[in-house]
Amino acid sequence: MSLQEDIAISAQRLLALAGREPPRLAVLLGSGWGGFEALLGPAQALRYEALPAFPRLAVGGHSGRLVLGRCGARRLWLLCGRKHAYEDGDAAAMAGAIRTLAAAGVQALVQTSAVGSLDPALRPGGLLLVADHINWPQRSPLVGQAGDGRFVDMRDAYCPRLRAQALAAAPSLHSGTLAWVLGPQFETPAEIRMLQLLGAQAVGMSVVPETLLARHAGLRVLALSLATNMGCGMEEAALSHAHTLAAAQAAGQQAAATLAAVIAALELP
Ligand code: HPA
Repeated sequence: MSLQEDIAISAQRLLALAGREPPRLAVLLGSGWGGFEALLGPAQALRYEALPAFPRLAVGGHSGRLVLGRCGARRLWLLCGRKHAYEDGDAAAMAGAIRTLAAAGVQALVQTSAVGSLDPALRPGGLLLVADHINWPQRSPLVGQAGDGRFVDMRDAYCPRLRAQALAAAPSLHSGTLAWVLGPQFETPAEIRMLQLLGAQAVGMSVVPETLLARHAGLRVLALSLATNMGCGMEEAALSHAHTLAAAQAAGQQAAATLAAVIAALELP
């Protein structure tokens, strides 16, 4: 079956579950943000396996889940599980999932992720509100798309109105530029110095491909990234995935509470 057909079937399943007035907001959870799910009101879930356009996740034998829930007064889709470009080199790994959300009436995507901080003022445990990004690998999930819609304007990729609403709700957020790296290896100290020279405040292995897909699909995007460590070479500690997860675990509850406050403040048309 074509991706287009998979998206149509997947969107029908979402709409069948959501009934009248399907959610207009979706939240994509990254590493360290799992605590947010506990803050949702009564929820129903679909496994990604039931949605042919959604990715199959290899990590830890866990399958991804799409949760229909409520955060305060707002109904939303929660995507628990993301496929990264570093897994098999495919920057479009989340294409089917994001296009399904758009087909099911979602208008805005809130992304979350873990990042390394490049800015001494953004300490581990702090949150970056992504204001702009650098697509350092210059890889695009839109390669192969047809039509003029592929020439996406990236000026306000991270919606200025949603960012202003987020900052009003959570003034402790740092605003800045996220540099995307393909990974899965961490950066060298020289790469960290280069990304600092380019003006980035944080570095991470996700968010950017999904933003490109979402903008192409007509969604507004907001992205919050949890700093789990300082960039390689900025401090003595060696970096590891275990360290990233432990730091995310330690700061996760506070991050989840901030995310809930931000979502409550978002005004969707
Ligand atoms: N680099 C890239 N991605 C990351 C990092 C990092 O230091 N920390 C968490 N995700």
